[in-house]
Amino acid sequence: MDKVLARGSAAARSRPRAAVVSILAAGAVVTATVAMATSASAGTTLGAAAAEQGRYFGTAVAVNKLSDSTYVGILNREFNMVTAENEMKWDATEPSQNQFTFSAGDRLVAHAQANGMRVRGHALAWHQQQPGWAQSLSGSALRQAMVNHITQVATHYRGKIYAWDVVNEAFDDGNSGARRNTSLERTGSDWIEVAFRTARAADPGAKLCYNDYNTDNWTWAKTQGVYNMVRDFKARGVPIDCVGFQSHFNSGSPYPSNYRTTLQNFAALGVDVQITELDIEGSGSSQATAYGNVVRDCLAVARCNGITVWGIRDTDSWRASGTPLLFDGSGNKKPAYTAALNALNEGGTPPPTTEPPTSEPPTSAPPTSAPPTSPPPGGACTATLTSNQWQGGFVTNVRVTAGASGLNGWTVSLTVPSGAAITNSWSTQPSGTSGAVTFRNVDYNRQVGAGGTTEFGFQGTGTAPTGTPTCAAA
Ligand code: G3I
Repeated sequence: MDKVLARGSAAARSRPRAAVVSILAAGAVVTATVAMATSASAGTTLGAAAAEQGRYFGTAVAVNKLSDSTYVGILNREFNMVTAENEMKWDATEPSQNQFTFSAGDRLVAHAQANGMRVRGHALAWHQQQPGWAQSLSGSALRQAMVNHITQVATHYRGKIYAWDVVNEAFDDGNSGARRNTSLERTGSDWIEVAFRTARAADPGAKLCYNDYNTDNWTWAKTQGVYNMVRDFKARGVPIDCVGFQSHFNSGSPYPSNYRTTLQNFAALGVDVQITELDIEGSGSSQATAYGNVVRDCLAVARCNGITVWGIRDTDSWRASGTPLLFDGSGNKKPAYTAALNALNEGGTPPPTTEPPTSEPPTSAPPTSAPPTSPPPGGACTATLTSNQWQGGFVTNVRVTAGASGLNGWTVSLTVPSGAAITNSWSTQPSGTSGAVTFRNVDYNRQVGAGGTTEFGFQGTGTAPTGTPTCAAA
């Protein structure tokens, strides 16, 4: 699928363009701008047309609709990026604390991979759709639960997600430009950057986005509030790669004429911009015009990676009565579809030919290195630590690599620094919380083949352990 969407690909470069042609007329040289034929490279579906422009065109998917053949037919034909509408949210993935359920999200990822689509992850930290147990937490317990949640979910999907909405809707509506007063915000105003650092440690390959609504109009206070946060994050090296503009438009919050300015100004901060949940209430030509405008605005901004609509048919929408999508309830293309497709085929500013650098290299070595092709020599096993440290706390992932004989049970021993304490762990049984601690396998990761790896992790307060732990067969 990367082949389809490769930036700077021949297809992307062959986009419609204007050529300056010199014509000799009546003894004078006349320079005219001639539009070159566009039909040769015009895409006939949203995904193909977006790919011609080095972009993607995606949709939110409700996994329980993957058995609806009309729905799946449109999905597979038109889109090359998908977002789980609800299945990767906190309430869906961690219904009981530290008990993770990935089956629905996994189904979507499998469908995407089987059909050449990429996946936007949505959403790691959000004040809505939290499980009941998280809603009853506050302070450091909630902070640690959030960190654990991000670590676990982003690690589970590591390598499979194009971009994560790491933090969703953290800013207040209204005129203050301030952050929303939520239980997450009350854990300390550094919670957003902790969320981003945690996500980076868990999946260094995913773009990390801040995602919000009512941030489309450049003059609005909420837009300015988010802009100032992103500028601050970039200045301080907080690992943010992109900003998602949900772009739910309706009569109360219409498509603003300065939308392109907003996208351009954010991109100028050194982040990608993505339109993440587009829907536009209305019908007929006015709706079609607005869709065309949004597409043209994205294509005008080199760092606008792509567009995701929030559902396929009007009847699939969270706002079905506003008929805000590109297909009607029977799956027919609406005028808005044609407008979006035509705007894609008009072309725009090419994306950067090389992937822009992310805001900073990961602070810790990526935990994704391929397992060794031959077993490491000598010893039953080795263990390495990868930690993400913030003021007052840390998350550590431990990778266990089996030696030439494989493992049928293992222990990893290390020293937790003075003053630090383990508060939570996963995929292991620790002997204690401070000082010298031995971590033992749990049932499902007891056996590791020769040269194979398994991982466990823990989080805590204070300073993360460092150095090389001792690994032994049990
Ligand atoms: O699945 C249950 C069903 O079993 C139950 O009978 C029914 C009764 O209400 O609820 C169903 O769950 C609903 C779920 O959607 C699946 O349809 C929830 O109640 C409902 O609250 C939930 O709404 C989702 C909403 O986020 C929650 O805030 C929408 O589908 C989803 O489109 C919407 O998406 C959000 C983005 O994540 C963030 N930006 C705004 C956007 C629109 O609100």
